[in-house]
Amino acid sequence: MNPIVGVKGMNDILPVESETWLWFEARIEAWLARYGYRNIRMPLVEQTGLFSRAIGEATDIVEKEMYSWTDPLNDERLTLRPEGTASCVRAAIEHSLLHDGPKRLWYSGPMYRHERPQKGRYRQFHQYGVEALGYAGPDVDAEHIAMCAALWRELGLEGIRLDLNNIGSAEERAKYRAALVLHLEKHFSSLDEDARRRLKTNPLRTLDSKNPMVQQVVATAPSLADFLGKESQAHFEGLRKLLDQERIPYRLNGRLVRGLDYYNLTVFEWISDRLGAQGTVCGGGRYDGLFAQLGGKAAPATGFAMGVERLIALLGANQAKTGFPDAYVVHSGEGTLEFAFSLSESLRQQGLKVLMHAGGGSFKSQMKKADASEARIALLIGEDELKAGKVTVKPLRTGEPQVQVAVADLATTIKES
Ligand code: HAM
Repeated sequence: MNPIVGVKGMNDILPVESETWLWFEARIEAWLARYGYRNIRMPLVEQTGLFSRAIGEATDIVEKEMYSWTDPLNDERLTLRPEGTASCVRAAIEHSLLHDGPKRLWYSGPMYRHERPQKGRYRQFHQYGVEALGYAGPDVDAEHIAMCAALWRELGLEGIRLDLNNIGSAEERAKYRAALVLHLEKHFSSLDEDARRRLKTNPLRTLDSKNPMVQQVVATAPSLADFLGKESQAHFEGLRKLLDQERIPYRLNGRLVRGLDYYNLTVFEWISDRLGAQGTVCGGGRYDGLFAQLGGKAAPATGFAMGVERLIALLGANQAKTGFPDAYVVHSGEGTLEFAFSLSESLRQQGLKVLMHAGGGSFKSQMKKADASEARIALLIGEDELKAGKVTVKPLRTGEPQVQVAVADLATTIKES
């Protein structure tokens, strides 16, 4: 019988990788706490209408990447979340989270998009999302970018560059859109199928087309920056001033429009050149219209999300491992299992990571397991040790000689070794 395998584009995270994930998650969560962000947890499943309304009907995500189905029990259209911002705003509206003022929130977990899987692009992937709800900016916009810059520094990640754009208000974009469509129509014969289709639905997406022919047309297109009014410009200048003050370098990229329709004013992406085609490790921006669009009281907001798989790939293999035990307990002889069992429990209660050998076997085979466990030391318990109330402490990684230690002094000895 053929074994059943996992779903394409949805990965197991095996213990050896999971250690890096745990290390990474602990660092991220400490960093979020330093900036005063609080955790929120939303369901993985939402009504389909939430995403089509928030992300936009004419986006790749809503048009072709959502896992949606009809719940046969009540005929409801449901979707596995492709991102977290829509759910976070839905929850904030539903529970009146802003009734006593703005909120800084974060969430994490799996997201689902039916994309063509390749390195760095999966159908189930993980994000850390950060949302500042009720803040008009540009101070919080700058805070988000500064947070990311600090995190890359802390994680030792080099070569992540920042692309920044100001996409103005919905009204400014509508005027620009008309001018852009005119230009694209003039060059209709040079447009590919995607760009032609988007003329009617989402022409701004054509700005970041990867097709060189289309890029040539885009190069001579009118610029969105020329359509921005005083207020939008002032917001962007306020943001840039803080970034300059903090010496955070960025590239102004007039073609950066992002793949979700809820944005206005600030949009940004952090891109690594070490990850090939899927180099964007983090993206976000302002979405001042989303609360009202989802039926809530209007409130300004901004946020971003990081792709965990991509950041972990950048971290590489040289990360601190958290999973190794301090000690591996080897026991052989009459009565030693019971002694080893309580000793292991007692050492764990004193804060040590202890692996007790399970499953029997000779002393020699247990020592092999101790070595393979990557524990720092082995604790050897034979009948002699049992009689003397002592344990033999054998360093496994340093070549130091083994010593006998009284049970009462064992935890201190291990901690100090
Ligand atoms: P997004 O740009 O669609 O934005 O996704 C954010 C990050 O998730 C990307 O930069 C990338 O690192 C990662 N990512 C996206 N799709 C995949 C995939 N198929 N496989 C692996 N990683 C992926 C959002 O989701 C917005 N909700 C961000 C936001 C929050 N904007 C405001 N607040």
